Amino acid sequence: MSKFWSPFVKNLVPYVPGEQPKLSRLVKLNTNENPYGPSPRAIAAMQAELNDSLRLYPDPNGERLKQAIADYYGVQSGQVFVGNGSDEVLAHIFHGLFQHGRPLLFPDVTYSFYPVYCGLYGIPFETVVLDEQFRIRVEDYARPNGGIIFPNPNAPTGCLLSLEAIERLLEANPDSVVVVDEAYVDFGGETAIALVDRHANLLVTQTLSKSRSLAGLRVGLAVGHPELIEALERIKNSFNSYPLDRMAIVGAAAAFEDRAYFEQTCRQVIASREQLVGELQRLGFEVLPSAANFVFARHPGRDAEGLAAGLREQGVIVRHFKQERIRQFLRITIGAPEQNQALIDALAGLC
Ligand SMILES: Cc1ncc(COP(=O)(O)O)c(C=O)c1O
Repeated sequence: MSKFWSPFVKNLVPYVPGEQPKLSRLVKLNTNENPYGPSPRAIAAMQAELNDSLRLYPDPNGERLKQAIADYYGVQSGQVFVGNGSDEVLAHIFHGLFQHGRPLLFPDVTYSFYPVYCGLYGIPFETVVLDEQFRIRVEDYARPNGGIIFPNPNAPTGCLLSLEAIERLLEANPDSVVVVDEAYVDFGGETAIALVDRHANLLVTQTLSKSRSLAGLRVGLAVGHPELIEALERIKNSFNSYPLDRMAIVGAAAAFEDRAYFEQTCRQVIASREQLVGELQRLGFEVLPSAANFVFARHPGRDAEGLAAGLREQGVIVRHFKQERIRQFLRITIGAPEQNQALIDALAGLC
């Protein structure tokens, strides 16, 4: 605390990202990165962009990327917003669409950045308890609110909500913006982007950090009604004209255009997930049904924090959360087959 701080800074509770260790030999299964590299076409596009043109500012609107996303999803580019990672897109959503005085609703177990943005922008919120199986029950959101947000599949549980349930939620809340955070949707879910033309209150966010293996590039997006997108553009243009650099615009566009590589790597991650689930179950773990590139698992006879520490000693890092309801769970990112095997070998010695 310094006398130079604006007073509200004292009360901020920042988000704590998963560890990015300096040691390279670790089996890193803690931040849901993709074990496979980005599309070779994305890398080639970025390499081609590394030239004299870097002296010029990038396109402030990232039109090349918006068009690639619009083509991919069969929407208009005016329905697409792009930003520096979906975290930035989410921040603009909280800032521009959730400040109505009424509480924002999100699940009690969910992405822990949501309450952080509420703190940053002074948004009141209420958490809605997931059911016994850690699933979202849309009926529980039938209460006065200034917006609704949840990941689908949810994080860190991996549990998926059907589009039919999302549509019921949208119809029950016509006066609220409903944001579906699809950071992990490509690993087993169905995108709600198909619903944006029917529901002006729906905004879908996605990231290139997971299924397109570009966490290091920082690109995220939102798709929705042009009036919702316009609010985000106003915030963005009042904050940073150029959130995406030249590399990010061309690399992300090429990643969307390389459908074959994307589909193949997603299939590999899904196949590894199913195999890992079987092996964890053989070790006695209960594993929640996952539609993501991670699993959420607990062992009835072993303390999760102790397991995480024991894994770490063997060079394997996974994510453990201290929140009461989930403190006996480990969130384990799906790695390459040899990483998953290293995890299972290490766990076998601990269980
Ligand atoms: C549910 C969810 N949403 C959004 C993000 C942010 O992704 P990024 O800022 O890398 O696009 C994450 C990252 O882990 C996430 O888990």
